[in-house]
Amino acid sequence: MASKMKKEKVAIIGSGLIGRSWAMLFAGVGYQVTIYDIIPDIVQKALKETKQELDNIEKQGLLRGSLSAAEQFACISGTDNLKDAITGAIYVQECVPERLDIKKKLYTEVDGLVGPNTILASSTSTFMPSLFSEDMKHRAQVLVAHPVNPPYYVPLVEIVPAPWTKPEYTAKARELMTEIGQKPVTLSRQIEGFALNRIQYAILNETWRLVADGILSVKDIDVVMSEGLGMRYAFLGPLETAHLNAEGMLNYCDRYCNTIYAVSQTMGPTPRMEGKVAEQVAKELEEMVPIDKLPERRAWRDACYEVTMKLNEHIQIIGNSVILVPYESKHVEKYHQWMKSEELQELTASEPLSIEEEYEMQNSWRNDEDKCTFLILDRKCYEQTQDEIEALVGDTNIFIQPNTEDDPSLDRVVGEIEIMIAEPAARGKRFGWEATLLMLLYGVEHLHLRHYIAITKDTNMRAMKMFERMKFRETKRTAVFHEISFGRAIEEDWIAWLKSELGSYTIKPYP
Ligand SMILES: NC(=O)c1ccc[n+]([C@@H]2O[C@H](COP(=O)([O-])OP(=O)(O)OC[C@H]3O[C@@H](n4cnc5c(N)ncnc54)[C@H](O)[C@@H]3O)[C@@H](O)[C@H]2O)c1
Repeated sequence: MASKMKKEKVAIIGSGLIGRSWAMLFAGVGYQVTIYDIIPDIVQKALKETKQELDNIEKQGLLRGSLSAAEQFACISGTDNLKDAITGAIYVQECVPERLDIKKKLYTEVDGLVGPNTILASSTSTFMPSLFSEDMKHRAQVLVAHPVNPPYYVPLVEIVPAPWTKPEYTAKARELMTEIGQKPVTLSRQIEGFALNRIQYAILNETWRLVADGILSVKDIDVVMSEGLGMRYAFLGPLETAHLNAEGMLNYCDRYCNTIYAVSQTMGPTPRMEGKVAEQVAKELEEMVPIDKLPERRAWRDACYEVTMKLNEHIQIIGNSVILVPYESKHVEKYHQWMKSEELQELTASEPLSIEEEYEMQNSWRNDEDKCTFLILDRKCYEQTQDEIEALVGDTNIFIQPNTEDDPSLDRVVGEIEIMIAEPAARGKRFGWEATLLMLLYGVEHLHLRHYIAITKDTNMRAMKMFERMKFRETKRTAVFHEISFGRAIEEDWIAWLKSELGSYTIKPYP
């Protein structure tokens, strides 16, 4: 444990929403984090909330970084003394309220306390760094590291230098951001709104004009984004989108530049977001989400971010003798070799696929929301060789069955569990037993399933015995397909049994 912790210190100034998120991100890779706020009570409250948040995120399997929640929290301390917070810190992330007078006063104080080796980064969303650093002795160390809310789930960080920021500080800040798992972009110079808000405002302005001109309702504007553009932009930028939408970018320009220019000329002046149109937009939005329902809708939005993190793409589950990892393209070749075996085709009721089809399958499994797949590694072999392909022994899946009940709250009720130990040498070592237990527990705790089914070939004695010993009951025999179905209701005492059989296991980010 000690080796995963770092000696270097990071100071977080201001312990609101953003400060606490930064604290967790730095602690995630073992930095010694000191949170500073103006009043002792606020510091204590922030520490308590950070601990709760880390524990919750760990339970949901979404903990970032390489340490457990308890290890991460052990890296975080609090103080109401600015000098104590800053002394010895390699990096300071300022997260005080978005008021220039507060920021300026703070940076004047910090200037008197800081040495030459500390990066001073502000979380500000709107102030260019020159606005609060101009008169500072240590102004060459100041820059903006602007996160996007919620930073724990949205990785972008805009690094913005002031005219006097030394490039080595900007470069080091970028390195640190990458190390804690964020995605930094570095602007070559400061500009109002940085990049994210300039692009965001361009979209806001055009949507505003479309509503003001009576072209679309507020609700339909949002559909254009959430069901259209947003789906692309979740994984591609606008420029690469254009590149792919023609035979390369030059071809795109050739084909569309006149149209784009002509349409853009009709866009009209920058609107002011006030007056009658503001009232109309607010009215339509409140019909969609009444003000008293905002907390509920925010919780829904945060849950969507979690889904976007695509749970099983980002985690590994470490048991005693196996490790479950996401199915990546690097595994496909070995998987493909396995599936040439007629015995495995028979046991898993699958057809042989070409290598291209296997890649397509891997990709579709990754994106299919109703399927959760992990590959199984022999833990001992992996720890000796550090070679996933060498250690790969099989796979396990849960297919989430569509809800056939009338009650929509019963969504995601039934999971069909599958297990395959493909490597002959790995059979008989209880890898399948442990991997199945881990997967069953994962389905209960993270996919919120209420019932399991398992279907095996009536010749697969090993699987049939295993599900019986896992307290599944036979529910159906389909003679024509030589299949036997098993069922298992998910009840408290069975969950307790699963946990006692498993002993300890850990969920960690992958890789
Ligand atoms: N909330 C967002 O969506 C978001 C997104 C990106 C960037 N930011 C930026 O992050 C910064 C912090 O935002 P937030 O939403 O966490 O604010 P917040 O109001 O939730 O928290 C601010 C914290 O700073 C403390 N504070 C006030 N004066 C202080 C001082 N002089 N010294 C130390 N602490 C002080 C407050 O007690 C409070 O705990 C702002 O600059 C904001 O623009 C916010």
